[in-house]
Amino acid sequence: MRVFVTGATGFVGSAVIQELLSAGHQVVGLARTDAAARALTAAGAQAHRGDLYDPASLRAGAAASDGVVHTAFNHDFLDRDFARFKENCETERHAIEALGSALAGSDRPLIVTSGIGVLPSGRTVTEEDGSPTGPNASPRVATEEAASSQAARGVRVSVLRLPPSVHGDGDHGFVPILIGIARQKGASVYIGDGGNVWPAVHRLDAARLYRLALEQGAAEARYHAVAEEGVPFRYIAEVIGRRLNLPVVSKTREEAAEHFGRFAHFAAIDNKASSERTRKATGWQPMQTGLIADVDRARYFEA
Ligand SMILES: NC(=O)c1ccc[n+]([C@@H]2O[C@H](COP(=O)([O-])OP(=O)(O)OC[C@H]3O[C@@H](n4cnc5c(N)ncnc54)[C@H](OP(=O)(O)O)[C@@H]3O)[C@@H](O)[C@H]2O)c1
Repeated sequence: MRVFVTGATGFVGSAVIQELLSAGHQVVGLARTDAAARALTAAGAQAHRGDLYDPASLRAGAAASDGVVHTAFNHDFLDRDFARFKENCETERHAIEALGSALAGSDRPLIVTSGIGVLPSGRTVTEEDGSPTGPNASPRVATEEAASSQAARGVRVSVLRLPPSVHGDGDHGFVPILIGIARQKGASVYIGDGGNVWPAVHRLDAARLYRLALEQGAAEARYHAVAEEGVPFRYIAEVIGRRLNLPVVSKTREEAAEHFGRFAHFAAIDNKASSERTRKATGWQPMQTGLIADVDRARYFEA
């Protein structure tokens, strides 16, 4: 297949393109800079110049493909204390609309990337769960709302949900943020008994699921790239504390809000997630290291 991959230079997308290339697919990656185009060519893919803010470039990339994997997302809000998060989620909605418009009425699959973290806390969530609606829903539900709209107009679209920790070499997601906060504050903190859980997946396992879902024509509405259903947050705090030689401390929700700042919401995620349906439908079996063993390596703590 000739696959158009957005976010092809990112942490997840770069693993997806390697997975696709290794399986014999032709890969065209979205590149918004010369450096990204060079990186894609060096990786064995082709570069398609464009930007999430340029719908015509997304439509052209999708139109010239047999299928699309969308992993691009503007994460600049992480460096801006979450300012512009909502705006970036709306850009994501428009990007999915643009990709879908080039595929409507065809069998060519579109796989978009969402997060388990948008789903309700406190119970096991499955692929049957739609994304929440209403004023308390995360702005990130824009991804799944856009996917539903595209399905309604005849696009063969699936949502692939990633856990709050996709881990592995090059991780610059939530675990590195926790490590940074622990360094800055001199303590590795969990909330209450630290029993709230984060599901997790290794980026290479996630990449394999994107490929399987694509090759099977985005046959399921939702896929869960969940290797571990729920890792207690306290275990993550403990490995960070031990590696940084810092105290591991329990705090109340109020104290944690002060400690974690805008990240407190993520530290409190309690999202046990199943991938049973995904595994049955695709034959996907995670094979890589689990979250705690992966994080418990010097590499995660290089300054
Ligand atoms: N990593 C995780 O732990 C995790 C967990 C849950 C969900 N997710 C979701 O998974 C997806 C992939 O995440 P990731 O960790 O791979 O992100 P990432 O490493 O930050 O990569 C983001 C990708 O999007 C591209 N991008 C950003 N703004 C763009 C723009 N305006 N136009 C075109 N491309 C743009 C980047 O291109 P440049 O190389 O040019 O910057 C990069 O290729 C995202 O939807 C993310 O929210 C990730």
